[in-house]
Amino acid sequence: MRIEDCRTDFPITRDLIYLDSAATSLTPKPVVQAMVEYDLRYRANVGRGVHRLANVATHRYRDAHDAIKSFIGGEGGTLTITRNTTEAIGAVAAGLDWKKGDRVVTTLLEHHSNLLPWLRLRERGVAVDIVRPNSDGGLEIADLEAAIRDETRLVAVTHASNVLGTVLPVREIAGICRDRGAKFLVDGAQSTPHIPVDVAAIGCDYFCFSGHKMLGPTGTGGLWMRRPDLEPLHVGGGSIESASSDGYTLAPGEERYEAGTPPVAGTIGLARAAAYLREIGMDAVRRHEERLTARLIDGLAALDGVTVAGLDAGTDRIGVVSFTVEGMHPHEVAQILDEASAVLVRSGHHCCQPLMEHLGLPDGTVRASTYIYTTTEEIDTLIATVEEISRRAI
Ligand SMILES: Cc1ncc(COP(=O)(O)O)c(C=O)c1O
Repeated sequence: MRIEDCRTDFPITRDLIYLDSAATSLTPKPVVQAMVEYDLRYRANVGRGVHRLANVATHRYRDAHDAIKSFIGGEGGTLTITRNTTEAIGAVAAGLDWKKGDRVVTTLLEHHSNLLPWLRLRERGVAVDIVRPNSDGGLEIADLEAAIRDETRLVAVTHASNVLGTVLPVREIAGICRDRGAKFLVDGAQSTPHIPVDVAAIGCDYFCFSGHKMLGPTGTGGLWMRRPDLEPLHVGGGSIESASSDGYTLAPGEERYEAGTPPVAGTIGLARAAAYLREIGMDAVRRHEERLTARLIDGLAALDGVTVAGLDAGTDRIGVVSFTVEGMHPHEVAQILDEASAVLVRSGHHCCQPLMEHLGLPDGTVRASTYIYTTTEEIDTLIATVEEISRRAI
């Protein structure tokens, strides 16, 4: 499928300029259809009954699970479907056998979902070392390496910043973690939808992502583990090999991490989303967004009174651009963009308050984020409207 041909699958793009895909992406018709088909044609619980619908549903669910795993190159590990990235990271924080004195290394670039779970571990005697980026948001890998000590059990880093769009060298970081005997968690919420991801090639121990940011339904995401070495968050139906009134034996495979009825329609929808992205090709997705982002940054940076955040934070980036307009609150800018040109962007802290403080942007930024359905014309409309707004502000 050519990227130019996909737009008709996203009806919302007929009336609005949706530049908030980093918060959640739009969903194409084939993904919705795949979920509706389950509900209307073969709805049944999975991994339980033996009747014909249970068989079909179980097969389709297992196939979807495998397809999602394969999309991130995770065939050699264990995947559990979660509600989102936050739940996946939380499952690692809750499931590792922490000891008093253990340490976690993370960075100030992180979304709250990859910061707060580690800060909470302080209650259990785990120390948290937070590596600070430069004033423009660039992270020195040497600083990260220096923060790792003998007691460091886990390094948890984002693959791509949801504020600045910068892509971190996770392969290099994985190598450092291996050498230093620390486990490595990658927050792939922003990378999985936009760039090719291969967890085996990265060499991480845990990889977390959200289905709703990659054309899939809300309420879906994933936690991939190199080895199933976490205590499951929940135990119950569907996750055991056997149970008696004395105790239970957990299932040996992925089922042990999926107690209770899983999001069957959601998982089938997410697998359809992964197939949709595969049909376009993740390299093509990346190139498309690189073109749009270059145009967006050039256009905004040329405007008086407009500052693009983290311009020098590294050249490897996804389609996420944060900016401010002098003399105006980001929420005000976002509201005018909507009212004047039906351009929908995010404004505020983007769940990265410590990073905003560090960058000297206490009110946050305006954030425009692109995806496969974004066009050059839409980027130009955003730039033209911001130019109008900045003239008014001066
Ligand atoms: C980098 C990053 N990590 C984690 C999250 C949390 O994702 P979710 O809300 O799907 O759990 C987000 C969401 O914006 C994100 O951008």
